[in-house]
Amino acid sequence: MDNLIDISSYTTFNLPSKVKSITHFTGEENLEEFFAKNDNVFVLGGGSNIILSLDLSDKAVLKIENKDIEIVEQDENNITLRIAAGEIWDNVVSFACENNYSGIEAMSAIPGIAGATPVQNVGAYGEEIKDVLVSLEAYDRIEKKYVTILAEECDFSYRMSRFKKDWKDRFVITYITIKLSKGAPKIPIYKVVQDYFKNNKIENPSIMDIRNAIINVRWSKLPKPSELPNCGSFFENPIVDKVFAAKLQQEFKDLPLFPTDHEDMFKVPAGWLIEHAGLKGVSFGPVGTYEKNALVLVNHGGATQENVIHARDEIIKIVYHKFGIMLESEPEIIK
Ligand code: EPU
Repeated sequence: MDNLIDISSYTTFNLPSKVKSITHFTGEENLEEFFAKNDNVFVLGGGSNIILSLDLSDKAVLKIENKDIEIVEQDENNITLRIAAGEIWDNVVSFACENNYSGIEAMSAIPGIAGATPVQNVGAYGEEIKDVLVSLEAYDRIEKKYVTILAEECDFSYRMSRFKKDWKDRFVITYITIKLSKGAPKIPIYKVVQDYFKNNKIENPSIMDIRNAIINVRWSKLPKPSELPNCGSFFENPIVDKVFAAKLQQEFKDLPLFPTDHEDMFKVPAGWLIEHAGLKGVSFGPVGTYEKNALVLVNHGGATQENVIHARDEIIKIVYHKFGIMLESEPEIIK
C-alpha cells in the first residue's frame, strides 16, 4: 500500500494518476508557506485541459477551490466583477446572464474554473476572455508575493498568453476581474447558433436565449465528460499564410478558412482536417476521435497518458501526410 492519492476523478479525461499529496486552496491558505514546504507543485484547476501521467508520485497538488463573486464597480453601462479563481466558470456565466450582464454568454458551458480562463485565453463563438478581462491577482512563486497583473500585460492571442510562455508555472492565479456590459448582448454570427434561433422561432434573442442556444449547440457537438471523458478541443486550429491557404483551397475545394487578426493569415479548422484525413470516429486503442467532432479526443475506457500520446501522434502524422500541416495539441501534458 502506498499513501499516494489518485486524482483521476479531478480531471475530465479521467486518466489514472497518483500524486504525493493534495492541498485544497479555499483562499485562507498561506501560499508562501505552502511553496516553502513543497517544491514540486502542480496547480490543478477544473482538470478540463490536462493529460496526466500515471506516476506523479513526486508531485504535490494545489487544487484551486476559492469561491466568491463580488461587484467592485458599476455605472449605467458597465459592471466590474472580481471573481475567485476557483469559481466554476459556467456558474460565473450563469450569474452574469441571470443579471443581464453581457460579454461572456457565448462562453457558456465551457468546463473548468474561472482562474484558468486567462491561461489559454479561453474562447468560443466569437468571445474570448481577453475581451472582458481587466486584471487578475496571483501569487508570484519567484518573487514570493501577491501581485496584480493587468490584462494588457498578458500578451493574449488565439488560445495563448504569457502564462503559457515566459510566465509558465510562475503565477498561481487567485482572482480575475472582468468588466461586462449592461447593454444588449452581441448575437453570435455562427451559423449553428443562427440555425438554433431559426428552428426555435426566436427573433430577438435575449441573453438567456443566447446562453441556451450555446449550451444546446455545444452539447450537440461535444461529448459530456461525465458520459465520455474528454478535454474539449484536443488540437488548436492551425494558422497558415495566404499563399499556403490558397494552395490548400485549390486542392481541397470545401476547406473552410477563417480570418484572423492578421489579414494575411487564416485559421484552418483542425476538426475539418482530421475528419478529411479519414479520422473522424476512429480509435487508436482506448483513445479515439469523437464520432460527432473529430477535434475532440475521447477516452473510451481504461486509457493512460501513453495511449493519448500515441493517438495524438498518429493523428498529427496522418494529417501532416495529407495536408502538409503540423497540428499542435491544446491540453497540457503533465509528466
Ligand atoms: N469541422 C469538421 N469536422 C469536424 C469538426 C469540425 O469539418 O469533425 C468543421 C466545421 O464544420 C466547421 C469548422 O470545422 O466548418 C469549425 O468548427 P467549429 O465551429 O465547431 O469550431 P472549432 O474551430 O472546431 C473552436 C474552439 C472550440 C469552440 C468553438 C466554437 C478551438 C481549438 N476550438 O472549435 O473550443 O467551442 O470554436 O467557437 O479553437 C475547446 O477549446 O474545448 C472548444 C470546444
